[in-house]
Amino acid sequence: MCGIVGYVGSRPVTPILLDGLGKLEYRGYDSAGVAVWNGDRIEVEKAKGRLSVLRENTCGGVHPVGCIGIGHTRWATHGKPSDINSHPQTSGTGRTAVVHNGIIENYYELRQYLISQGVQFVSDTDTEVVAQLFEYYYNGDLLATATRVVGVLEGSYALGILNADHPDTMVALRRDAPLLVGVGEGENFIASDVAAILKYTRDVYYIDDKEIALVRKQGVEVYDQYGRKVDKELRHVDWDVQAAEKGGYEHFFLKEIMEQPEAVRATISPRIKNGRVELEIPLSDEDIRKFDKIYIAACGSAYYVGVAAGYLLEELLRVPTTVQLASEFRYQNPIVDEKTLVIIISQSGETADSRAALREAKSRGATTLAVVNVVGSSIAREADMSLYTWAGPEISVATTKAYSTQLAALYLLAIKMADARRSITDERYAELVRAVEALPTLIERALGIKEQVQQLAAKWFSAEHVFFIGRNTDYAVTLEGALKLKELSYTMSEAYAGGELKHGPISLIEDGTPVMAVMTGARLFDKTLSNVKEVLARGASIAAIVGESARDISTEADCILRVPDCEPLFSASLSVIPLQFLAYYIASLKGCDIDKPRNLAKSVTVE
Ligand code: F6R
Repeated sequence: MCGIVGYVGSRPVTPILLDGLGKLEYRGYDSAGVAVWNGDRIEVEKAKGRLSVLRENTCGGVHPVGCIGIGHTRWATHGKPSDINSHPQTSGTGRTAVVHNGIIENYYELRQYLISQGVQFVSDTDTEVVAQLFEYYYNGDLLATATRVVGVLEGSYALGILNADHPDTMVALRRDAPLLVGVGEGENFIASDVAAILKYTRDVYYIDDKEIALVRKQGVEVYDQYGRKVDKELRHVDWDVQAAEKGGYEHFFLKEIMEQPEAVRATISPRIKNGRVELEIPLSDEDIRKFDKIYIAACGSAYYVGVAAGYLLEELLRVPTTVQLASEFRYQNPIVDEKTLVIIISQSGETADSRAALREAKSRGATTLAVVNVVGSSIAREADMSLYTWAGPEISVATTKAYSTQLAALYLLAIKMADARRSITDERYAELVRAVEALPTLIERALGIKEQVQQLAAKWFSAEHVFFIGRNTDYAVTLEGALKLKELSYTMSEAYAGGELKHGPISLIEDGTPVMAVMTGARLFDKTLSNVKEVLARGASIAAIVGESARDISTEADCILRVPDCEPLFSASLSVIPLQFLAYYIASLKGCDIDKPRNLAKSVTVE
């Protein structure tokens, strides 16, 4: 998705913008650009393609020369990737330059209106409408103009604006798209993602919806949509800069797989004290007992975490739990009320559909709980309470450690809630706490399977499609395994609940079709084994992920991947590891862009 960075201070701005944009590359983009006040006018450099093209065009950041500027990486929505459609977009006079993340939903009406007023457009973007509108409304007063613009724009936006009459000021405003102001000494920043400015400052103001920030070298002022001054709390971000660097690994994806034991430890350890789960969320036992229904809404891998958590919550709490895609939940008129707990799971905390699902749930009176990684993100701030996953920055577009820490956070939540409802015995409680505490070490051991999976990848990498099967929690993890493989290696891959095979998909199995069976759960081991036999009889090549104490199935499976035994309800945390490696090694062998798969973006802030 698009990225914004801006700087005002005393240093040459272009290298800072290029550096910041480099930190946002992981989000996915197709073009990049900068606009800088060069002492005489706003100078724009922008180009379709990778940031390297922009670096070349600016001689590595030597020009444009100036100390205030805005930069952007664009992920095309309105208008194909091209030099002209790249951001910054400018007004006809070139006196206003705009970078924009999001979608202006009423851009067409605004564009038609401006055309009727004689304004000429050069790009196909919705962003140019903002630049032209700003200039059209401009009355010499930046704040007054910005409030007027906020008043008419519909849709989602984070905007950085420069105006030639005020070469000391960046204007930043947002609605439904992330934006923050970084505060330094004698210099200030704007960014859509803290990773872009972490090198320079960790003190930030999170800009709220429809707020307008005027950012100057000497200071920052924030106003509401009516132009009234707002007092903002300065927040300190304690993410480690190193965590956002590759640290010797060839890819962030691999680095983040290997970071999972530590990330899961960070999520779990501080929350278990003297054998008790203690969560920092304001949810009393009485509140927990009031719920007669739970909904989980999320997108992509976070949704698959929800699928695993759904099995867990129903099993431990005996409370009906529905897991739904956030994009469906928001439009399905969900049966949600004051007695419903709605859990939103999101790494970025900015996913548009998840955010909309959250609002939908809130509007119906539900208690909303966000399981979220990015502190201060929109979902974290809007939910009634947030359980942070503390995975640190996740740079690879495809998730690994955020997925694992989301699972871990939900295990803790389920144990706490089951205890509050007295739906488990004290012995079971103690057993589950021990099982969750053991996970970081078990995940570390599971990573030892890397080489074995690499060999499997060498056999399977040219397959046109791969099937994944499992039941219950094992099924939940196959969904994630199939997604990882398709997004990283562009291999058609599908996950099916074992019992579903006979209802259609088995017709696709032929000689040599690779099937990955996840069968770590002892209770359903034989059931899944029967499904394995069914596909084996039709010529499939089988690999199976089983627990280390599972019986030998070498007559059925060509490749047996053993992961440490653990509490069956938590098995996804271990069985996902070989699936992550499988996607990684197949993608490597196919020469894919592992950290930035085609067409994908790290956080999907538009619907
Ligand atoms: C897949 C992946 C995505 C995200 C999804 C939700 O590897 O990363 O499917 O899980 O886009 O994103 P968040 O968790 O930021 O809401």
